[in-house]
Amino acid sequence: MTGLEMATGLDAWVAHGAEITAAEEAERARMRGMRFDTIAVHGIYSAEAALAHQGSLIEPAYLSPAQHFADSDHLEAALGYLMPAWGYTRIANPTLHYLEETLALLEAYGTGIVASAVVTGSGMAAVDMAVTPLLADDGTGRRPSVVVGAKCYGGTFQLFRERFARERGVDVRWVREPLDTAEWARLVDGSTRLLYGEMPSNPSLSVLDVPAVSRIAHDAGVPLVVDATVATPALLRPLGLGADIVVHSVSKSIAASGLAIAGAVVARRGIVSRWGSDEMRDDFALHVKLLPMRDHGPALSPFNALMALTDLRTLRGRMDAWSRSAGRVAAFLEAHPAVERVHYPGLASDPGHGVAARDMWLADGADGEGEPANRFGHLLAFTVRGGQPAARRVLDGLRLVRRATDLGRVKSVATIPSISTHQQQGEEGRAIADVPPRLIRLSVGAEHPGDVEDDLAAALARA
Ligand SMILES: Cc1ncc(COP(=O)(O)O)c(C=O)c1O
Repeated sequence: MTGLEMATGLDAWVAHGAEITAAEEAERARMRGMRFDTIAVHGIYSAEAALAHQGSLIEPAYLSPAQHFADSDHLEAALGYLMPAWGYTRIANPTLHYLEETLALLEAYGTGIVASAVVTGSGMAAVDMAVTPLLADDGTGRRPSVVVGAKCYGGTFQLFRERFARERGVDVRWVREPLDTAEWARLVDGSTRLLYGEMPSNPSLSVLDVPAVSRIAHDAGVPLVVDATVATPALLRPLGLGADIVVHSVSKSIAASGLAIAGAVVARRGIVSRWGSDEMRDDFALHVKLLPMRDHGPALSPFNALMALTDLRTLRGRMDAWSRSAGRVAAFLEAHPAVERVHYPGLASDPGHGVAARDMWLADGADGEGEPANRFGHLLAFTVRGGQPAARRVLDGLRLVRRATDLGRVKSVATIPSISTHQQQGEEGRAIADVPPRLIRLSVGAEHPGDVEDDLAAALARA
């Protein structure tokens, strides 16, 4: 008989829940001793967990919206959050749970930090869910402020400017040059609830000094939230550098096959925040999952969670190989006469190179055994001489590289952000975010880099 069949009465269910919690904690502790790739492959889906799922080798996709309970005590214990259960997929689900646990372990990899994660229906939902709980009314009537790196994804810019500032009256303070730590420090004051930045940023690959900015945040008693979508935990683990909360558009390099939209909020246990409840500070991701997520409802589909989990298993090897391809393509573009400037933190000429080389390390190194290796990701951007008309001719001349508002993909894709991902924020918004009309963003995929270069060479001949 399983514990599920034996338990009767509320207390028995709570006790059974404690056993499940202890078994999962033991598995987490065991997996913390494993290498990055092993964690990525298994997470906490142990051999015992597989047997409890009819021996399914792969984590099963629980597509059912709801869980059936053994009796009313089981129902009450589960819905009262007195025992681990899933109940209803908007709140929790076993497939989502396995993705969350794997992401939390990877994000904290090698840092000694204990983290937890909540997955969301998209990357934007993750940004929203990381920020919204920190903006709760504190009863003083004082307008909350947030300090945000302006060089960020267009959707994030719009979320802060339109949804938070215009619709909700939040004082959004833009850091025009995120690498300039003095600018962050200048904008923080007693009304500030959080600092937010991308490392590296989309589309201009701007670099954030996470240790320095997290110190500024913590001196003010507030958390630093870092969007590390472009780097992924294979190359950058911001929690280990001082960040409190990491957000990902899981839709990108983590789910590189391009079969699912998903997001994640990963937080260290015990975030710094003068605001909010003890529960929120102690386990931010769990707080988000059980309360704001439940009420706002941006849940991830279990099917998409399985798609993401499937790609996540091979993250490190992909980010290694594709970063090396992108580094080669970046050097090719830098040497091309039609190219004005290349934005890629791996280039020695890039203003963020020093900080990126200090902080961006391939997990487990080049040989998988710890030989240190910088890797800078597979996203880059470049400007061409001749302004936007030339940039459009180059984009239109690509044949292998696809034109799409996408990145982190197995297939190389390119776009002109000012007319696509960053169109809606308008000219003024693009000026704040430094997205010039002639900028082309290129995400280098799994093709042979020589073929990508040939395609770029043919397109650049039209500049
Ligand atoms: C850096 C970054 N953050 C967040 C997002 C939003 O993610 P999603 O498209 O999954 O909502 C994106 C999407 O492009 C992004 O590039």
